[in-house]
Amino acid sequence: MSIKYIEMLEEGLNVFWSNNSLTCYPWFWLKDHSESEDDLHPDTKQRQIDSFTKALEYNVDKVWLDEDTKNIFIKWTDKSQSCLSFDLLELMAKPSLPQSTAIDYSSCWNTPSDIKSFPEMTYEEFNSNGGLKKWLMNIKRVGFVLVTGAPTTPEATKGIMERMAYIRNSIFGGFSVWDNKLDSPDDTAFTSLSIEPHTDGTYVNDAPGLQTLHCIKRDSIGGENQLVDGLAIAEKMRHEYPDAFEILCGVNIPGRYIKPDTYLEARRPLLRVNNKGEVIQVSFNNHDRAPFRLENSQMVQFYDAYKIFHNLVNDTARQFEFMLDPGVVLTFDNWRLLHARSSLTGYRQLCGGYHNHEDFESRLRTLQ
Ligand SMILES: [Fe+2]
Repeated sequence: MSIKYIEMLEEGLNVFWSNNSLTCYPWFWLKDHSESEDDLHPDTKQRQIDSFTKALEYNVDKVWLDEDTKNIFIKWTDKSQSCLSFDLLELMAKPSLPQSTAIDYSSCWNTPSDIKSFPEMTYEEFNSNGGLKKWLMNIKRVGFVLVTGAPTTPEATKGIMERMAYIRNSIFGGFSVWDNKLDSPDDTAFTSLSIEPHTDGTYVNDAPGLQTLHCIKRDSIGGENQLVDGLAIAEKMRHEYPDAFEILCGVNIPGRYIKPDTYLEARRPLLRVNNKGEVIQVSFNNHDRAPFRLENSQMVQFYDAYKIFHNLVNDTARQFEFMLDPGVVLTFDNWRLLHARSSLTGYRQLCGGYHNHEDFESRLRTLQ
């Protein structure tokens, strides 16, 4: 947007925008947000200006617009100079509390048939120009993506993951290869048992963001995977069970992981929301829930709310069920979808790992 004219006031600078809106930016805010090379490092984009050693008051000498570079320049009486782009000023025109990124609920799905365009792409397509962006956009849209026709090797699977970002380390290691015949499995995931819908890492402060799974050898019966859109359930509860929704946003549920020499514990609400009430993360693992006790009446209300969520995630009509066959690489958003697995007999070898959610968000920003 262009600027029609500016006006200096005692308290700040009035900017009259081409759409006839008006914004008043306080002088100190302008000084603090200067994008000049001295104030904001041109390469790292890190703030260099020392805003707080001196008094929080600056006297203005003059202000002018540069229509060619689309910048506003401010000369202060102490001879320093600030520069702010029209773009930054426009972006900051409307004051608001900074918010954590909400999950995009425009394409949330209550049943698999709600998924309009199935999030699947071939290995060749993934590796082509624009393939990574399409892969990311599928995860953003419906919470998961399948890459088909992939080589059934750990190396190829790792390659898919590393095209997005570095692989996260965790209590289970980084990129891992495992089967269901371990002598002493660390987790039910490494057995043949069924697992009900859950998100991973309710016992760590920063739960894994994306999870990638590839079954590279399969000689088994059963073991179907299920995915459920936790965001769709959250939105349903917001409208149909508002009291239960509030409880699930407010109670910090502890999760734990206990092994010899390891005792991980973290706590957060089942539905983590930002200041606008938008859902930013779903965390649910009934298997890993740690003991806690509220006042009796609150505990009853909590159990009622938790039961509603539990029963909705276990409603098979909500679940997208499929078999992880060799050559099909599944990646899903662990902050949004819940995953489950039926029990199996026979042998499976899998590989995969985690990404941090911020690296997923970063890629979405930089590839757009
Ligand atoms: Fe899991």
